[in-house]
Amino acid sequence: MASKNLKIAVLPGDGIGPEVIDVAVKVMKAVCNKMGHKVSFQYGEVGAVAIDKYGNPYPDETHEICEASDAVLFGAVGDPRFDNNPNAKVRPEQGLLAMRKKLGLFANIRPIETFDALLDKSPLKPEVCKGADFICIRELTGGLYFGRPQGRSETGETAYDTCIYTSEEINRILKVAFDYAMKRKKHVTLVDKANILSTSRMWRELAKKMAANYPEVTMDCIYVDNAAMQLVQCPTRFDVIVTENMFGDILTDEASVITGSMGLMASASIGAKNSLYEPIHGSYPQAAGKNIANPLATVLSVAMMFETSFDLKKEGQMIRDAVAKTIEEKYVTEDLAQKGDKSYSTSEVGERLINLIQND
Ligand code: IPM
Ligand code: MN
Repeated sequence: MASKNLKIAVLPGDGIGPEVIDVAVKVMKAVCNKMGHKVSFQYGEVGAVAIDKYGNPYPDETHEICEASDAVLFGAVGDPRFDNNPNAKVRPEQGLLAMRKKLGLFANIRPIETFDALLDKSPLKPEVCKGADFICIRELTGGLYFGRPQGRSETGETAYDTCIYTSEEINRILKVAFDYAMKRKKHVTLVDKANILSTSRMWRELAKKMAANYPEVTMDCIYVDNAAMQLVQCPTRFDVIVTENMFGDILTDEASVITGSMGLMASASIGAKNSLYEPIHGSYPQAAGKNIANPLATVLSVAMMFETSFDLKKEGQMIRDAVAKTIEEKYVTEDLAQKGDKSYSTSEVGERLINLIQND
C-alpha cells in the first residue's frame, strides 16, 4: 500500500476533550509511524475555549484549519458555565452546529457494536443485547435544528422552531444509508413520524423510491416512538437506521448505552468535501482534568477516520485490535472496570494501546 501524507485538523474543545484527543493523536502517530505514512496535526479551538479566546464558538481561524485539512479530529464542546446561564448569548454547542453547517457535514454515522466481554455493563439483559450490531445514520444539517424561522414572539408568549427538509437533503442521506447497507446485512430501517409530520411523509416517499434502486436491500419504515421501544426490546433486529436530525440525536443517545458504555462510541460526520470524527460522549465536565476519561471512543473514531476518509482498512483494524485487546485484558478506565478490579488512567490506557500497536 502506498504511503500517504495526512493533514489532520485537531479540535480538542472542552471538558475531557483535550485528554482523550491527546491519546488519539498519539495512537494515530504510532499507527502512521508503523505503516510509513506522514501525518501532521494543526490545532484549532472550538466550543467554550473558543468563546473565551475569540468570543465565537467556531471562529474563522478554526474553520480555515478545518477546510485546509484532509480530516478533522474533534473532542467535545460544552461547559457548565454556559448551561447554568440562561442569559448567555453564545453557547459552546452553537460552535458544533456552525461547524457542521459550514463544513457541510450532512451525514452523522454512529456504529453500535457490543463487546461480549462487556455485556454485563449494559443496562439491557445480556441475552437481549448480545450480538447487537447496527449503525445509525442521522441527517445532521437540516430539520428542526437549522430550520428558520426560529425564535420568540415580541411578547415572549410564543416560541417556535421550523422543521424543513428539501428532497435533495433527504436523497443524499438516504443514499449514504443504502450504500452502507450494501456493505452490511442489507437492511435499512427508516425512522420517521409519517402519521403526523409532512416532512416525514416526504422522507418515506423518497425512501421507497431510493429502495427501488437497491433491489438487494430490504427496507422497513417505523415510527420514532416505536423505534425508541424496539431499540431496547430487540436491538439485534437493526442493521442500518436512517433518520432525520432530531430523531437521530435522541435515538443515538439511547442506542449508545446498549454497548455498556458511552465511552466506546465513535462517530463520523461526513460531508461532500470534508469529514469529522468524534467520540459521542460529550465534554463530561465532572471528569475534566482528572485523567480518568475513557479514551477508547476517540481512538475508535481515529479507526473510522483511517477507514472512511483514507481507505486505510489495515490501519483501522490495527486500532480495533488494540482496543479489543485492552478490553479483553481489562486494561480499562473506571467506567469499564468490573467491581473490585483495578482501573487505569486515560494516559495509561493510551500507553498500553501504543505498546500493542508497536508490537503488533
Ligand atoms: C450530538 C450533540 C449535539 C447535537 C449538541 C452538542 C449540539 O448532542 O452530537 O448529538 O445535539 O447534535
Ligand atoms: Mn446528541
